[in-house]
Amino acid sequence: MKSTINNTVEFVKEKLNGAEAGHDWFHIERVWKLARKIAETEKNCDPDVVELSALLHDIADPKFHNGDETIAPRISREFLESQNVPNETIEKVLFVIENISFKNRSQAPANPPIELKIVQDADRIDAIGAIGIARTFNFGGFKNNPMYDPNVQPNLNMSKEQYKKSNGTTINHFYEKLLLLKDLMNTEHGKKMAQERHDYMLNFLDQFYKEWNVD
Ligand code: ADP
Ligand code: NI
Repeated sequence: MKSTINNTVEFVKEKLNGAEAGHDWFHIERVWKLARKIAETEKNCDPDVVELSALLHDIADPKFHNGDETIAPRISREFLESQNVPNETIEKVLFVIENISFKNRSQAPANPPIELKIVQDADRIDAIGAIGIARTFNFGGFKNNPMYDPNVQPNLNMSKEQYKKSNGTTINHFYEKLLLLKDLMNTEHGKKMAQERHDYMLNFLDQFYKEWNVD
């Protein structure tokens, strides 16, 4: 499996060449490392499924493919089959990739497998804290969204389609997603890591408003 993992790293690096900085190879590398760390604290998980899912989870993010959610599973299956990965492992990896997303949380599976819980926590940890703040402003800039507008309130009841199309402010994204993640963590280790990053974002927002409100 070691050489399959190495081949996957090369495949993902090449596919994400030139990607938006919040969803580039370095995001994948951080999520891969975080997922391995969390996996060490969880018994009975399949480490190959954890690693392959972490590596492939943003291979074709629908945000950058006109909302199409079928591309990532298709590319991943083709790649894993080309590596002769056992079918049972492929199915488990695809299940993680298809269910990891925050915007699909209303359709989350009732009894998620441990590998999904781990990789989802790793992806969510990388969405918060200092890195989370940087990624969010980078993505907002990429979409040319306003940073902040005191007259536009966060929308906590967006449908999945509204969420995907949203051109709201980047500060509102904190309330619409980032600050909700702490309470959505699946694993004990994930919960612990999330708390520190959550508090850091609250401090950031305090300081942001202080500096915004010049008097
Ligand atoms: P997922 O990929 O889990 O469905 P998102 O689509 O919410 O999650 O996007 C992942 C990351 O992209 C977010 O954590 C954030 O950094 C950035 N992002 C997504 N939507 C926005 C937005 N409207 N404004 C700013 N950043 C965003
Ligand atoms: Ni991701």
